[in-house]
Amino acid sequence: MSEKIFPRHIAVVMDGNGRWAKKRLMPRTAGHKVGASNFKTICQYANSIGIECMTFYAFSTENWKRPKEEVDTLMSLFAEYLRDSVNFKSENIKLCFIGDRSALSEELQDLMAKAEKESADCTGMRVNLAINYGGRDEILYGVKNICKKVSAGEITLDQIDAEMFDKSIYTADCPPLDLFIRPGGEYRISNYLLWQSAYAELYFCDTLWPDFSKKDLDKAIEVFAGRNRRFGGV
Ligand code: FPP
Repeated sequence: MSEKIFPRHIAVVMDGNGRWAKKRLMPRTAGHKVGASNFKTICQYANSIGIECMTFYAFSTENWKRPKEEVDTLMSLFAEYLRDSVNFKSENIKLCFIGDRSALSEELQDLMAKAEKESADCTGMRVNLAINYGGRDEILYGVKNICKKVSAGEITLDQIDAEMFDKSIYTADCPPLDLFIRPGGEYRISNYLLWQSAYAELYFCDTLWPDFSKKDLDKAIEVFAGRNRRFGGV
């Protein structure tokens, strides 16, 4: 039987900032700045239409390979966004981070911890920002968490199941991932939410992230609503 529902949890790969800037003869970093501003617009809109949770790919474990100037600009944009708590608190947005934050600067780690604490009681949409995040890394993180419990004798091998794994990774308290959106014209998952996307509906579009509008989000949600989700059944 088909199940037509509003997505509870949407993931977004914010792709295409570099190409957006190049088309305008601007440096790639200019594209990231406009991309950051669009992130705020889309969060605000998604919260206003009642989306429960969104997870944005802001920096992957592979993005360290980019030129230093670009990495520094991205880190500054994250810090700038977090310094101004109006960005999320006035929107009643609960901000969380996924990924390995130990490689980030102490200043950024402090800002992240502060933002999580300050927004912990917000009752609107939950926004997960994936920074220094990799899907394979996250799976290993989950495996290690479970192994620790096995070796401490807290659980047995037989008790390990998908539900336990769900609770052992970064998105433990999030609704199941329903919709995976990738703007920017590429058709890959790029090591993003590998475990969570098992039954997510995939939506790709050519619009570059800085141009991805509220209407584009509406369209993705509309397409999702028209999909026939069978979760392996008939
Ligand atoms: C991928 O596009 C984008 C990134 C690696 C960075 C995404 C980060 C932002 C949009 C800034 C987020 C800021 C805040 C405050 C959350 P790309 O640069 O690889 O684009 P390209 O494929 O056109 O080169």
